[in-house]
Amino acid sequence: EDLGVVAVGFSGGQGKPGVDAAPTALIESGLLDQLRDELGYNLHGHGAVHSYADLAPAQDPPHRGMKNPRAVSAVTRQIADQVYAQAREGRLVLTLGGDHSVAIGTIAGSARAVRERLGGREMAVIWVDAHADINTPETSGSGNIHGMPVSFLTGLAREEKEEFFGWLKDEHRISLKKLVYIGLRDVDAGEKRILRENGIKAFSMFDIDRHGIGRVMDMALAHIGSDTPIHLSFDVDALDPMWAPSTGTPVRGGLTLREGDYICEVVHQTGSLVAVDLVEVNPRLAPEIEMGAHETVRAGCSLVRCALGESLFTAAMASTVTS
Ligand code: ARG
Ligand code: MN
Ligand code: MN
Ligand code: MN
Repeated sequence: EDLGVVAVGFSGGQGKPGVDAAPTALIESGLLDQLRDELGYNLHGHGAVHSYADLAPAQDPPHRGMKNPRAVSAVTRQIADQVYAQAREGRLVLTLGGDHSVAIGTIAGSARAVRERLGGREMAVIWVDAHADINTPETSGSGNIHGMPVSFLTGLAREEKEEFFGWLKDEHRISLKKLVYIGLRDVDAGEKRILRENGIKAFSMFDIDRHGIGRVMDMALAHIGSDTPIHLSFDVDALDPMWAPSTGTPVRGGLTLREGDYICEVVHQTGSLVAVDLVEVNPRLAPEIEMGAHETVRAGCSLVRCALGESLFTAAMASTVTS
């Protein structure tokens, strides 16, 4: 199977340096070798990590309260083109971020390719995160664009001007009805209102405690419906900081690594996966925790391998044993 790899070293959607070093850290720990040698993927566009610097502050003052708006808009526009170019060839696309603002580009690119390849079909998005990342520029308290990607992608936030995400057109957008959240536990007041008023499907940590991850995934996939292309956007901070301490906005009370892997495995098993993002790994953070960065990178690699089908071998073995 063919896999397009887009590696994006970019941190301009939030304020902490280091998240731009994640693709290199993930690749150096052997992720792409494993995908090629163990899972048998044909990799395209790999090896090259695209690093994007912010503009000088004087050239990129805030707009509607957004920080680094021109840089994030320009970078995500390039990512959208890269992801689209891979997806148009019918390849599954893996993006290694970068902060979660990069998903403006990845989802824009894969939504466009799905429409084009499948006669106007809309894809679904499974957003696994402690946060909803659905602030509009106006509801955001931080001004960090990594807290806003979903509002731009669904059209809740709009801008005419090209240099402020005006390049996003209908072909890039996704429907609020085809969006499902998993793992939420730190949602801003304005975001809660947006989720409620739009009837957006969201499974919080409360729901996972109540029903278990198995039933939650059944319900999530039932909401999406079978035979709908799925883009999985996985923010590593969905995991509990115990497994993923090296991330910019950690929140306690999160998913176990095993629950995260399970989400990825189940999404893979649908056969409908078209793109995966892994974002917000920041190898420079949590140096006080012994092996913190190493553990976070390792967790990220595990999530990606599961999303790309690692479990099937194990599952086949298990059924051989039990039957
Ligand atoms: N809700 C907060 C904000 O808007 C935090 C967002 C964190 N997002 C993330 N991708 N880690 O700034
Ligand atoms: Mn998050
Ligand atoms: Mn996020
Ligand atoms: Mn497969």
